[in-house]
Amino acid sequence: MTRPVAYLAGVGRGVPEGVMTNHDFASIGIETSHEWIMERTGIAERRIAREGESTTTLAAAAARQAMTRAGVDAEELDLIVLSTASPDRLLPSTGVDLQAELGASRAAAFDLSAACSGWLYGLSVAEGMIMSGTARTALVVGSEKMSSIIDWTDRSTCVLFGDGAGAAILRPSVDGRGILSSYLRSDGTLADLLYRPHGGAKHPFDEQVLADRSFFVKMAGREVFKHAVRSMAEAVDHALSDAGMKADDIDLLIPHQANMRIIDATARHAGMPMDRVYVNVDRYGNTSSASVPIALEEAISEGRVGEGSTVLMVAFGAGFTWASTVVRL
Ligand code: ACO
Repeated sequence: MTRPVAYLAGVGRGVPEGVMTNHDFASIGIETSHEWIMERTGIAERRIAREGESTTTLAAAAARQAMTRAGVDAEELDLIVLSTASPDRLLPSTGVDLQAELGASRAAAFDLSAACSGWLYGLSVAEGMIMSGTARTALVVGSEKMSSIIDWTDRSTCVLFGDGAGAAILRPSVDGRGILSSYLRSDGTLADLLYRPHGGAKHPFDEQVLADRSFFVKMAGREVFKHAVRSMAEAVDHALSDAGMKADDIDLLIPHQANMRIIDATARHAGMPMDRVYVNVDRYGNTSSASVPIALEEAISEGRVGEGSTVLMVAFGAGFTWASTVVRL
């Protein structure tokens, strides 16, 4: 394929207004401290959806902002890819709920499940469908209501996550702008290090599942940490070499915002000084597949990058899955 095929015509963000700080955990009986959470993760606060806010409503807010910026009406969308690990319902997809909410009457819509790497996977899927001619105007959203799938009695996970959504409109490339490389990987042999054990088709929801709280996210933190550092480094190398670039060619590195120590390690490996690395994990925690597009939208809004900038995005998540993309905005 001759790249670029598709470019990001507009980017949007939709985050709940409700803020939960590290100090707020005491009020729900969680034994932790601001110092512990900051030292291990760099997270100071996260956004938590209120009554009435859902994966669909957050996605719609991000999508509308991206569509406005791209100058695209809902009827022009012919593809909606919604990446989520926290769908509003198990059937049908949250993608079709978003399609209905937006009134995107001509669009194909579906969910993509690749956890924190999902939005980068989604960009690649949409790029491929634009290349084949199946789609011309695609909406790629990462949206999560992680607060609905974490165990609020488990201090080792509940302090890490937050809610939010990010989105981009993809259209056929113009002026050399667009996706320059894309690297996607997975390793399902390690699935049980970060997963929701029960409540799906293999072991449907029952009283035991409820009693064991085994429908919530479980994570082997230390193991996940090691794999995240290793895989994100590998993904950075591949994205750069596939694009024929070096770290000096990158204006901004946008790593998945899971943990400050993982971000630091990824930046060090890439040889990128921290002033060319975007960080907002302190304000949002880990919003899974929404993390990279939220960060991208903020980086653009803050003027850190703009049209013509070259951005390297990299993510790692449950599965495991990992992915990286170099984009000229
Ligand atoms: N507050 C206070 N103490 C805590 C907390 C908490 N919130 N959570 C755990 N502890 C305690 C543990 O009980 C343990 O105590 P013990 O030694 O008395 O048993 C101690 O802290 C150390 O626990 P560890 O889990 O070994 O702590 P670690 O240094 O590994 O830090 C953490 C935990 C922050 C989760 C770390 O492993 C990590 O960041 N892992 C990566 C997680 C991640 O980023 N996941 C997302 C990537 S993939 C994705 O985004 C889906």
